[in-house]
Amino acid sequence: MNKHVAARPRDGFTTGLGVIFATLGSAIGLGNIWKFPSLTGLNGGAAFLILYLACTLLVGLPVMISELSLGRRARANAVTTFEKLAPRQPWWLIGAAGALAAFLILAFYTEVAAWVIAYIFKAAFGQLSSVDPQVTAAAFSGLISSPVQSLLWQWLVLAMIAAIIIAGVSKGIERMTKRLVPALFVLLLIVIVRSLTLPGASEGLVFLFRPDFSKVTWATVLVAMGLSFFKLSVGMGTMITYGSYFRADQNIPGTAARVMLGDVLVSILAGIAIFPAVFAFGFEPDAGPSLLFITIPAVFNAMPLGRVFMVLFFLLAAFAATGAMLSLLEVPVAYLTERLNWSRVKATVTTTLILAVFGAGAALSGSILANLKPFGMTLFDLYDFSSSNILLPLGGLFICLFVGWRWGLGEVRRVLSNDGRLRNERIVQLFFGVVKFLTPILVFIVLLNGLGVIKL
Ligand code: PFF
Repeated sequence: MNKHVAARPRDGFTTGLGVIFATLGSAIGLGNIWKFPSLTGLNGGAAFLILYLACTLLVGLPVMISELSLGRRARANAVTTFEKLAPRQPWWLIGAAGALAAFLILAFYTEVAAWVIAYIFKAAFGQLSSVDPQVTAAAFSGLISSPVQSLLWQWLVLAMIAAIIIAGVSKGIERMTKRLVPALFVLLLIVIVRSLTLPGASEGLVFLFRPDFSKVTWATVLVAMGLSFFKLSVGMGTMITYGSYFRADQNIPGTAARVMLGDVLVSILAGIAIFPAVFAFGFEPDAGPSLLFITIPAVFNAMPLGRVFMVLFFLLAAFAATGAMLSLLEVPVAYLTERLNWSRVKATVTTTLILAVFGAGAALSGSILANLKPFGMTLFDLYDFSSSNILLPLGGLFICLFVGWRWGLGEVRRVLSNDGRLRNERIVQLFFGVVKFLTPILVFIVLLNGLGVIKL
């Protein structure tokens, strides 16, 4: 056991509010602003929203509570957590698979963040000023088809994230997210007021809130479930790592519920910021991933003061992406510092350099690697699909099995009630029933069916 004990005193979050902002900062991200609107647009609007909310409640939230509990109990990175809680058993593989997922996600996520940051500048300097989606599409393809631009912007993002991570958990992650998350809410509200006051905005609201289930298939259910994992940053050890930095008196179910609500709120607000404007100017909602980079700029250009709002919008997306990337990078960095006793600088720089290589696969998917298509997808899409729709659900499944079957009710009660100090027995019972039976069964069925192993 001794070799797992960190030689340095462990850093951690310092205040209850700091915990909330850091965890919410991890959950809120491009998932809300890029993935959620494009998937909702592609899959029929409100019907998808309902499916996603159900997955969040029945799958995402229980896995989040499980992960936070494991991390705070073991006070260690995602791999060591399992080695401590189940010595000499293969459960640590969950943590190892999580580290792989963190790399895959960061590889494409940093590229999308790179486009967002490039767009802040392009919008500010008037390079995106057209109401014609064909013109904005040309601007976007100019960006992604240039290997130099794609790589340089991605490296800038990596360097920025690495610098914050090197500053530490309390002085880097906590300090940064405490500023970014509130700023993001303010910016989002400003953009919403603009979008909702456009003539014809109501059609977008109808799209977002009136369900049409005709577009829902089993593949949609897998996508909604994958999104619920991705959104709450669960299934891969991020929340185990963050849980290990939680204070001993932090109410885990209460914190997880608040973070889930805050995150869902931002997704819906992002939908309200985007769809009314899309409909008001007669654009199509189902553009998919390019909605953010092709449709949205055209939409902004069609409104008065559009350029200002466009800059604010991409700034808010960059703020959102930052907290999420910090939590992703912290997974391998925590492992390397605790397990190999590396300094934070060495662990962060090494991880970032490896990421630059992995990430190039995603960054160059629009240019020199466009024809490299293992499993029929570009590397960018493959990283995204294999992490969200396979690795995260698999990780989540095993985390539930660990908590429900290996840990048992006694241990769960101890952690969730802070050793009996919180009176939350009903919540403990409810959570335990869900995590032991309901969540794993749901994930198992949706996963097998979505991957075509069984046919329902
Ligand atoms: N939750 C983030 C988002 O929705 O953008 C993405 C993410 C962060 C996924 C951290 C996974 C993770 F571990």
